[in-house]
Amino acid sequence: MRTRGRNSFSPTERQAVYRAIYERRDIRSHFQPTPVPPEVLGRILDAAHHGPSVGFMQPWDFIVIRSAAVREAVHECFVAANRQAAAAYSGERLALYGGLKLEGIREAPVNLCVTCDRLRNKGAGLGRQTDPATDLYSTACAVENLWLAARAESLGVGWVSILDFEMLRRLLEIPPHVIPVAYLCVGYVSEFPGEPVLETAGWERREKLTQLLHFDRFGGKDSGQAASMFPQRAREEE
Ligand SMILES: Cc1cc2nc3c(=O)[nH]c(=O)nc-3n(C[C@H](O)[C@H](O)[C@H](O)COP(=O)(O)O)c2cc1C
Repeated sequence: MRTRGRNSFSPTERQAVYRAIYERRDIRSHFQPTPVPPEVLGRILDAAHHGPSVGFMQPWDFIVIRSAAVREAVHECFVAANRQAAAAYSGERLALYGGLKLEGIREAPVNLCVTCDRLRNKGAGLGRQTDPATDLYSTACAVENLWLAARAESLGVGWVSILDFEMLRRLLEIPPHVIPVAYLCVGYVSEFPGEPVLETAGWERREKLTQLLHFDRFGGKDSGQAASMFPQRAREEE
C-alpha cells in the first residue's frame, strides 16, 4: 500500500497541475520555427499514452508529421473543408469567421494525427460492449493529456477539426477501421493568450459554471451548495 505522502500532492505540485489546466490554450498562431526536441515530443506522447481508456483498450496511434510537403498537403484538406464550413455563416458572423485563424498546420514545426483503432483487439470489450463510442472518448482523453503536458513543456498545441477527412485519410494512408480523431499542430510559441482566442475575438463567451450545475437531477435547483463550492466566485459576483 502507498503511504499518504506518496498519494498526496504538495501545494506547489497541486498548483502546477491547475496552472497547466487554466493556462492551456488552443494555439494556431505565433508558432516559432524552433524544432521540438525529440525527447520533449516523446514526453508529451507518453503523457497521451497514459490517458485513461475503456477496458484499458489503448485504441490510439500517433502519426508524427514533420515533413513540410505533407503539412502543405494537409493544409489543402483544411482549405477544402473551410470553404464549406464558411458557407454556414452569413453577415457579421461570416465576416468574423473569415477573420479567425483556425489552424497552424504550416507554421507549427510538428503536426500530430491522433487516431482511434475501432477494431483494436485489446480490452476484451469491457465497457465498449455497452457503449461502442467509448473508444473515441478514450482517444480524446489521450489528446487532453498531451495538451496539458505540452503546456507544462511551454509547447503550444492547436486542434484542427476543419479538415476534409477523406482527403486526410488518403494522404496519411489511414485504414478504414481507424478514425482520425484529432489533428494537432505543435510547436513553441511566443505567447499563450490569457483567454481563449474565440472569446477575445468576440465569437463566444465562457458560460458561468453555476449555470451548468444541476443537483440530484437535470434541472435540479441549487439550494445554496454552489455558494459553498465556489466561495471566491460568489463573492466576486455579488
Ligand atoms: C474537438 C475540438 C476541435 C477543435 N477544432 C478547432 C479547429 O478546427 N480550429 C480552431 O481554431 N480551434 C479548434 N478547437 C479549439 C477550440 O476552439 C478551443 O479549445 C476553444 O475555443 C477554447 O479555447 P482554449 O482551448 O484556448 O481554452 C477545437 C477544440 C476541440 C476540443
